[in-house]
Formats: sequence, structure tokens, C-alpha cells
Amino acid sequence: MGVFSSLGLFYAIILKKTLEQVLGKRKDNPMIDNLRKKIETALAEAKDMTALENLRVSILGKKGEITDLLKSLGQLPKEERAQAGQAANELRDWATLAIKSAIDDMAQVQQQNALATESIDVTLPGRRRKIGRLHPISVTHKKLEDLFVSLGFNILEGPHIETVYNNFDALNTPHNHPSRDEADTFYFNDNLLLRCHTSPMQVRVMEAQAPPIRVVIPGMTYRRDEIDATHTPAFHQMEGLVIDKGITFGDLKGMLELIVRHIFGPGTAIRLRPSYFPFTEPSAEVDVTCYSCKAKAPEGCRVCKGSGWVELWGCGMVHPNVLRMSGIDPEVYTGYAFGLGTDRITSAINGITDPRLYFDNDMQFLSQF
Ligand code: DAH
Repeated sequence: MGVFSSLGLFYAIILKKTLEQVLGKRKDNPMIDNLRKKIETALAEAKDMTALENLRVSILGKKGEITDLLKSLGQLPKEERAQAGQAANELRDWATLAIKSAIDDMAQVQQQNALATESIDVTLPGRRRKIGRLHPISVTHKKLEDLFVSLGFNILEGPHIETVYNNFDALNTPHNHPSRDEADTFYFNDNLLLRCHTSPMQVRVMEAQAPPIRVVIPGMTYRRDEIDATHTPAFHQMEGLVIDKGITFGDLKGMLELIVRHIFGPGTAIRLRPSYFPFTEPSAEVDVTCYSCKAKAPEGCRVCKGSGWVELWGCGMVHPNVLRMSGIDPEVYTGYAFGLGTDRITSAINGITDPRLYFDNDMQFLSQF
């Protein structure tokens, strides 16, 4: 027999003896009584919740004294176990109740104290409620809408979930057009998608009302673009559509000039570059004189990259096919359309260089507008 196991045996005998003394043979259990007294004293001395909680853990917790006591009962001789067990259980029930009611009492006292000392300082300044404000893009939309309303336009909104037909087919966009690719547009199924521009509202308006038509449609649009310093998968546009008898490209140009001067000030000029959109013919890109360097075009201008011009949106004369598909006779009516990129316009007005800020919900950023 090794040294350790003989030591173990020794302790086992001692423990058994103590247990027999305290729990077993004698009716008045000094160990139980002592523990009870100890708990009573601790309860009387406990000044706060922490003391009570510590007491609870040290007595009834996993390694508490009563828990240990209960665990050791198994080592008593069988005939003594029942009596000792009963005594220990009674002690545990008593301690559980005593500690719990002490904790409840303490909580009540604390609450009463808190109420007694609580006072309201009516001279303190009130807490100001933060009042919300318009998002910078909404501010741009409102500003543009003011102009269009003054020119007799209706402001409409359209569904963000569109039919493939309205988004592409009715806009004369052929099946092989890259924007129809799954990699560019968010499809729900073969017939529904998240609109990739506000132009499908042209179709809805033309199908619903006869010319003369004068509408703008602001709203969010979606494309499968990776998020970076110039792209976000959601962005905003404002579509414009004017259809009447005798509308010309000159009317379009006049309107574009009104828009840029309304936004960027009277000194702003536009330049139209030939472009291609399936739903307009002819089509053009609208450039404005750089609002950052005021068209002085120094090499280092980050906005116009030294060209003096900034590309802002697309426009054109509504394609006869588009008119025809929506039930308007292109022999009688002509019209123009434009699609303003309002995130870009907002960036231009406010000198914002990263469109991701529009979607971050950062109060520090948003509260500047
Ligand atoms: N829908 C085009 C786009 O998202 C923008 C556009 C170009 C709209 C020409 C128009 C237009 O109404 O005539 O890229």
C-alpha cells in the first residue's frame, strides 16, 4: 500500500468518525447546530446584498458547506444515514428559506431607501429630443421637385419591384442587352425584378394616361454593383418624361439648362454628348461644367479629372417603338425623357466624395444637412 492511499484511508476514517459524531448517533448535532448558528450570525451581520449573496453561495452553492455535508452522508453507516440525512435536509431547507427571506427584506429596504432619497431637481435643463431631418438625397429630390412642380409637372412614385416587361421589353431593350444580364440585375423570377432604373415608370404612365404628359418620378433603383467608392447596389434616380405634340430636342435642351441652373447656380453650362439608350433616339449624356473647380480644369481636380466637365445623367427623345408599345401614336406625338442620378447630384452639391455614406445611417454625417 503506498503512502498516499494509506493517508487517504486515514482521512476517510477520521471523516467517518466526525460525521458519526455530528450527525449520526447523537440527537443534538453539534455540527448542524454550529452551522446553523454560523448562518444566523452571518445573516444578522450582512449589511448589503453582496454579503447575502456571498453567504448563499458559501452555504448552498455548488461547493457550499451544506452541499458538502449532504454529499458526505453516503459515507455514514447505513443505519445512521437516515437520521443524519433528515437533519441535514432540514438544515438545508431552513437555510434556503432564511437566506431567501433575508434577500427579499434587503431588496425592500433598498427600494424604500432609494425612494426616500430620490428627488427631482426641477431646475435641471430638459433633455432635448433629437428631431429628425431629411436625408440629403431627399433634400435634393425636394429641391428638384420644387422646380418641376413650378413647371406644371406631376410628381409620381413607382413600384421598386417591377415586371421584366416594363423594366426592359417595353423600353425597347433587346434580349441581348448587357443590362438584362443576371449579373447586372436582381431578378425574383422570370417576370419580376428590382427595377434597375426609374424608366419603367415611363411605361406605366404612358399606359395609364393620354398625352400631354409631364411627369417626374423620383425613387430608389437597384443594380448588382459591388460596393466601392463610386458604386452602391441601391441608388436614386429621378426620371422625367414629357410627351406632347411638337416636342423637340430643343425643348429637352432648354429643360436641362433650367435643371442645372436650379441646382448648381446661374453660371453653370451643359454639354451634350451623343450616347446610346435603347429607349431614346437620339440619346445624349449630359455633362455640366465642373462644380468643384468651376470649370477652370486644373490637372489636379478630383471631380472632373482636369477636363472641366462632369457627366451627370442620360437623356434623349423617346423612341417611337416605346411610344407605340405603350399605345401612343409616334406620328402624332413626340417626347423627351431624362434620368437624373440624384445621388451624384447630391454629392456634387455637398462635396461628398463617397456614396456609401448615404446608406450608413451615421448620425454625425446625416446631421450636417
Ligand atoms: N435609365 C437610364 C439609366 O438608368 C438613364 C436614362 C437615360 C433615363 C436616358 C432616360 C433617358 O429617361 O432618356 O442608365
